Amino acid sequence: MAILIEVNSDSFVAEVTNIDLRVPLSESEFSDIHSAFNRYAILVFRGQPLTDEQQLAFSRWFGPLEAAPNYAGTALRLRNEFTDISNLDHAGKILDPQDRLTAYNLGNQLWHTDSSFKRRRAKCSLLSAREVPQHGGETQYADMRAAYDALPHKRKLEIDDLVAEHSIAHSRSRIGFDGFNDDTVTGLPPVPQRVVDHYPESGRTSLFLASHASHIIGWHREQGRALLDELIDFATQPQFVYTHRWAVDDLVVWDNRCTMHRGRPYDLTERRVLHRTTVSDALTSFHERASADQRLLTSPMPVGGRNV
Ligand code: OGA
Ligand code: MN
Repeated sequence: MAILIEVNSDSFVAEVTNIDLRVPLSESEFSDIHSAFNRYAILVFRGQPLTDEQQLAFSRWFGPLEAAPNYAGTALRLRNEFTDISNLDHAGKILDPQDRLTAYNLGNQLWHTDSSFKRRRAKCSLLSAREVPQHGGETQYADMRAAYDALPHKRKLEIDDLVAEHSIAHSRSRIGFDGFNDDTVTGLPPVPQRVVDHYPESGRTSLFLASHASHIIGWHREQGRALLDELIDFATQPQFVYTHRWAVDDLVVWDNRCTMHRGRPYDLTERRVLHRTTVSDALTSFHERASADQRLLTSPMPVGGRNV
């Protein structure tokens, strides 16, 4: 039977049923899934008890996977294609709330988009729920295409060509985490990302914001910071937000280029275990995308500066 795509009342979330992601997909099944992904940005699959291998196999349909380097510098529980969205230590025991890794993980409770601080940003993330707490621990998603559409025309013109600087050191410093070693800091220098981007696959334009964005290039820091905060507040108003309440064996796939997300608090003494795979954006870095973008090349020099 063909897969079914049902749209939740939130128009950027679709639920995909009649599919078993543990078995290999056909090209045509993936093509339906990918069209829905481009159209809706968030896909929810329920009742998918995946092994890590099965999650990897499904994730690879979307493109090349990112490796998840050891940013926090602690021993890891999962192999390096996975980001560990859990409160467990490398041995599978619940972390002490005072642990450095707990502090690092709390950064995921700020609105962000995965890997915006990397030169090659992420296309999508796939998060598989293995154990969930009784209360809390939801993940919220904000629709940054709808938010862009809803901006006043004048605001759109002001921000269309701006470029923000993103870095993981910045977002973690916002929660008071300064435990990076020098290799992490030098290995992940700040990167430029356009604040507004157009996506031919969906025909939509989106904001691209994140806790990792520190300021607007070419602007006074405080002025750029204020603009980013204002846009994040605007884009995360309730009408743009979907809250996913996890059940074990849910898999949620989201487009990092046109959504933001954040984890919600929960009782850290209860186990919450989700495994994430992350797919790289095929149109690699800002520089490569910029040279492919005729609009950027032919428009007058933006206030934010193009030579970044
Ligand atoms: C993620 C993420 C937050 C959470 O999976 O990338 O930021 O705790 N998750 O659900
Ligand atoms: Mn994340």
